[in-house]
Amino acid sequence: MCGIVGYVGGQSALDVVVAGLKRLEYRGYDSAGVAVLADGGLAAAKKAGKLVNLEKELVDRPLPGGSVGIGHTRWATHGGPTDANAHPHLDNAGRVAVVHNGIIENFAALREELAERGHTLLSETDTETVAHLLAEEFSSVGDLAEAMRLVCRRLDGAFTLVAVHADQPDVVVGARRNSPLVVGVGEGENFLASDVSAFIAHTRSAIELGQDQVVELTRDGVTVTDFDGAPADVRAYHVDWDASAAEKGGYASFMLKEIAEQPKAVADTLLGRIDGAGRLTLDEVRIPGAVLREADKVVIVACGTAFHAGLIAKYAIEHWTRIPCEVELASEFRYRDPILDQRTLVIAISQSGETMDTLMALRHAREQGAKVLAVCNTNGSTIPRESDAVLYTHAGPEVAVASTKAFLTQLVACYLLALYLGQVRGTQWGDEIHAVVRDLARIGDDVERVLETMEPVRALARSLADKDTVLFLGRHVGYPVALEGALKLKELAYMHAEGFAAGELKHGPIALVEEDLPVVVVVPSPRGRSVLHDKIVSNIQEIRARGARTIVIAEEGDDAVVPYADHLVRIPATPTLLQPLVATVPLQVFACELATARGNEVDQPRNLAKSVTVE
Ligand code: F6R
Repeated sequence: MCGIVGYVGGQSALDVVVAGLKRLEYRGYDSAGVAVLADGGLAAAKKAGKLVNLEKELVDRPLPGGSVGIGHTRWATHGGPTDANAHPHLDNAGRVAVVHNGIIENFAALREELAERGHTLLSETDTETVAHLLAEEFSSVGDLAEAMRLVCRRLDGAFTLVAVHADQPDVVVGARRNSPLVVGVGEGENFLASDVSAFIAHTRSAIELGQDQVVELTRDGVTVTDFDGAPADVRAYHVDWDASAAEKGGYASFMLKEIAEQPKAVADTLLGRIDGAGRLTLDEVRIPGAVLREADKVVIVACGTAFHAGLIAKYAIEHWTRIPCEVELASEFRYRDPILDQRTLVIAISQSGETMDTLMALRHAREQGAKVLAVCNTNGSTIPRESDAVLYTHAGPEVAVASTKAFLTQLVACYLLALYLGQVRGTQWGDEIHAVVRDLARIGDDVERVLETMEPVRALARSLADKDTVLFLGRHVGYPVALEGALKLKELAYMHAEGFAAGELKHGPIALVEEDLPVVVVVPSPRGRSVLHDKIVSNIQEIRARGARTIVIAEEGDDAVVPYADHLVRIPATPTLLQPLVATVPLQVFACELATARGNEVDQPRNLAKSVTVE
């Protein structure tokens, strides 16, 4: 949520910053702005709407060239998406510029205080107060990093701040509390950004900033302190993907590219998980075996698509380990006073590793003594940093706002984790674990086969572009798949889409069914619990009898569904618990195509942003 870039070096700051913002636009696209230090002063430009509007503005009214600059792409919180509310915000003398991601909770009091001291604030944002406070502090201490430390000590809430001052023209300063900020270390140049994709074209050396730290960047140096000015410990790391991974690579959208990358993402997440002795080794899981053996409850916290991965993980964890598992929306978790103790294992699932709801849930869990294990896709992000252990998914950068490949890899990681728990606790034999790992290793090919047969799904999606509602039904692990299918359609096609447990239909939702209503049904394998399969076949008949147009996703060879399917989508036969890995893919393709047919931009759906760093 909000993308931030800072640059100091030998190149044109404007070029570097705008290129970085392009890579970060998935974080918010309500407005964009830049500021550069040049000719002893500070020049800024900002525009409501997507980055392209700012780029036009920069052509119409070019800024002077300079080699120190900052930029921002916004997802609006305080104040609507207008030019005035766009970042950067400046002080009244126009010497300081600041960009911000997060929410400053005490901004109203700060505004009042600044107004009393004669400052004029021009926007409705919380951020503008910081520009004015920085200007005041700088005038007494004459150093931007020190001014930033003094200001940060006065702020409540979540913030990443990056600022420049015309009177210290060779420095960019950043600060971070509860929102992401990464340093890119180059040669004779350094970068700050919300995530590494903004500077990956220039350097793959990164430094992860910790909580409550201030960083000062010059061309040749990076200095990190805490808010009191004491030197801080930081972790340097090498980014293991390159700029091409964050390009569309010939696809019409990042979403299409990321859907196509799923077989590889699944394979990469499985890589190196079995040791020479044939045992599952999850190297990053640093919670001692004794603690895992003694855990008497697993609680999964996550949001959105990651929450759906958690719902599916519950089936695997309970089945393979016999430990009770609860799955909870992270945004609800800490407010209901959950019962947690040292014997609770909390699993926090997050692609970005920055989702504030999930972060707050895991902090709450740790305060209660629970151990937290993160399943995360983003190296160096906050959620793994603050967890006791982490299992990384290796999906590579996910740029499209709607999550696809991250979801499949979250499932793989959760299956591995469930098996690992089974291994440590002795509820699974080695050969049982191997059998599942072998099945998982085949899934990449199955996903590939699904992708090769998607043309009829795309044609169907296009034919439904004028519908208002689509329902999704599933049972067992197919139920979260139905929820995920509905979420994808809502966020991309802006349609009314709902997922239901098929057994619940008769308890109310069946009243929604009317003539020609498209209903997607995810059918469990007939080879698994056949009773479940038989029941869903009955459910399909019930809705069809009431006029529904049935779109049935069923395993190859499942002939029982054929008479009741208006449209039949075949998926390869998989073991029951693993079916979501293949059943979800047609739903992703369906949503992407339908949204495109409706003229929507699939990578940047309205009102949304990736990496939700506000609660
Ligand atoms: C939906 C989607 C969101 C995210 C959710 C959690 O397509 O992308 O629902 O899944 O915001 O994000 P992470 O996984 O980054 O915590």
